[in-house]
Amino acid sequence: MTDLPVGRASFDPPPDAAERLWQRVADIFRTEREQIAGRPVSGPVDLDGLQSALGSYDFARPADPEDVIDEVAALLRDNTVHTTHPRYFGLFNPSPTLMSVIGEALAAGFNPQLAAWSHAPAAAEIEAHLLRFLGRRLGYPPETVAGSFASGGAEANLTAVLLALTKTWPEYGAAGVRALAGRPVLYASAESHLAWLKIAHATGIGREAVRLVPTGPDLRGWRPRWRPTAPPATGRSW
Ligand SMILES: Cc1ncc(COP(=O)(O)O)c(C=O)c1O
Repeated sequence: MTDLPVGRASFDPPPDAAERLWQRVADIFRTEREQIAGRPVSGPVDLDGLQSALGSYDFARPADPEDVIDEVAALLRDNTVHTTHPRYFGLFNPSPTLMSVIGEALAAGFNPQLAAWSHAPAAAEIEAHLLRFLGRRLGYPPETVAGSFASGGAEANLTAVLLALTKTWPEYGAAGVRALAGRPVLYASAESHLAWLKIAHATGIGREAVRLVPTGPDLRGWRPRWRPTAPPATGRSW
């Protein structure tokens, strides 16, 4: 019988080498979890060292995959704020659970093409099921919940602003902001993420359309006679 290749990707190593690589990654994760509590949550960054380690990679020269795995793990270990650390309290970025890491590996391995339901019915239905569950937890009847995962807060809020603009002005989608009779403004807490400025820019309503509402001492609501402020002239990049 003809020897058929095991996988489709011609760059994949033979099965025994592949087994070793998986084992290496599993060992790294196990050691990380065992040792992370004894290390600092984050440390000073040696940018020169980091860049020179990366500079030593020459894409014209093959590298040993096990060495690459070890080197990348070491770079990430030394140059990351460790959300996996038990004393990391910025819980907006949660620590990944083991099953979430395994879930990412399954998604990467099967690489479902989510652009069309017919290409990835299982992944699309998993997404819809989870969204209905989250919607129910927020008080929405399941049959009213639809959507898709976003890459983060900026994409999620961009989607929300696009929906709000289109619902308020159905002509917005086809004719754009110039077709609107008035000028949309957007109110956000002064404590909110400045991604709102990028979102205002991207949707065409413009950064000056963002009104930042001051917060009170408890960081919610606003002072009795609040006055919305213009967005700060900030060089911050987020
Ligand atoms: C409300 C909000 N928008 C945007 C962001 C930016 O994150 P990302 O780049 O993942 O969208 C954050 C991150 O903390 C956020 O809290």
